[in-house]
Amino acid sequence: MSDAYILGIESSCDETAAAVVRSGEQLISNVVASQIATHRPYGGVVPELASREHLRAIVPVVRQALAEAKHSYDTVDAIAVTQGPGLAGALLVGISYAKALAFALQKPLIAVNHLEGHIHAVLLEERQKGNHELQFPVLALVVSGGHTHLYLAAQKGEAWTYENIGHTRDDAAGEAFDKVAKLLGLGYPGGPVIDRLAPHGDPNAVKFPPAQIKHRDRRGRIDGRAVDPDDDRPRFDFSYSGIKTAMLRYVESHQMHAAVEARRKALGGIPKPKLEDYLAHSDKATLDLVASFQRAIIEDLVGKTLAAAEAYNVATLFVTGGVAANQELRRTFEQEGAKQGLPVFFPSRPLSTDNAAMIAAAAYPKFLVKDFAPIDFSAEAGMQLR
Ligand code: KG4
Ligand code: ZN
Repeated sequence: MSDAYILGIESSCDETAAAVVRSGEQLISNVVASQIATHRPYGGVVPELASREHLRAIVPVVRQALAEAKHSYDTVDAIAVTQGPGLAGALLVGISYAKALAFALQKPLIAVNHLEGHIHAVLLEERQKGNHELQFPVLALVVSGGHTHLYLAAQKGEAWTYENIGHTRDDAAGEAFDKVAKLLGLGYPGGPVIDRLAPHGDPNAVKFPPAQIKHRDRRGRIDGRAVDPDDDRPRFDFSYSGIKTAMLRYVESHQMHAAVEARRKALGGIPKPKLEDYLAHSDKATLDLVASFQRAIIEDLVGKTLAAAEAYNVATLFVTGGVAANQELRRTFEQEGAKQGLPVFFPSRPLSTDNAAMIAAAAYPKFLVKDFAPIDFSAEAGMQLR
């Protein structure tokens, strides 16, 4: 089979992205236009603004990805686009554009699940390093602003299948980072700021009780599917709303409000705050709280994921999604995984957060089996991965 150059397009949340990837194993170009500046004043992603910004960015971002790859619309072999999950209006911008391109150019169109994209970010970079030998079973933790999911990933022929064995019951881990940063007046998005501030505080200063999950999901469903009553295999669910509430109570009971408001105001006046700016406006109590919060989240993520890896006797662990960019998370997974003799793979930091290279990479196995999308397919905001 000759090489296939796939143009990937991603617009599920607050990044407009396009990339060209060769045969799922070589990143040729990767362009990401971030909307952080647009959403920062609101402390989170505003869906209407996201759609508008995608509309503004999509054409120049795709052109730039093609130009950097020294390709043209005519020389790519297929167009891949994120179908979901994500914000419906944001997804539709990428999908409409991808459909128009595929129709005009008479090229195959491939619909990709965003979560599958995050998993294939790891595969793309491992293949690029020459690592083609993957030990199965593979467990993948997808941990981002919208998701905290554990999947057993398997390959049947060229196609990949996924089985969910754990998910968050409430907030995603990245969402907890974002909400806590907002609560502490540290701005948006919270993950990268907390990542950089945490090494300056004492992670043992504040103790948070571990999240207790005793019962099966009350919705009676797992990852959107009805639970088979005979399926008694272990599940490894997460919950992060408790720690968010504990943080809120801590701020209230330790009279931190005035300091938080002062910080919010000071940082709000700086267009792109640097680490020194954050440090200049954070006292020891805040830094200790940030470090303790991050440690608690990481201990929970690593503890449950490694327990799942052991229960399912997996040979390889992938950790991917925006939160996988976190330095302490990576270090802890590597250390604890090594103790269990479990190899842990992450994408590089640029491919951990949302990008289109992962979409183009995930599309390649579908390209090989001609799993093309009909021209009338639409966005699926709550799309499941299976
Ligand atoms: O994968 P992603 O770019 O978008 C979604 O699919 O959600 O993930 C974004 C999330 C945000 O919640 C952001 O705060 C978090 O990932 N994040 C981080 C870091 N970088 C991004 N969380 C912790 N540490 C980081 N360095
Ligand atoms: Zn994502």
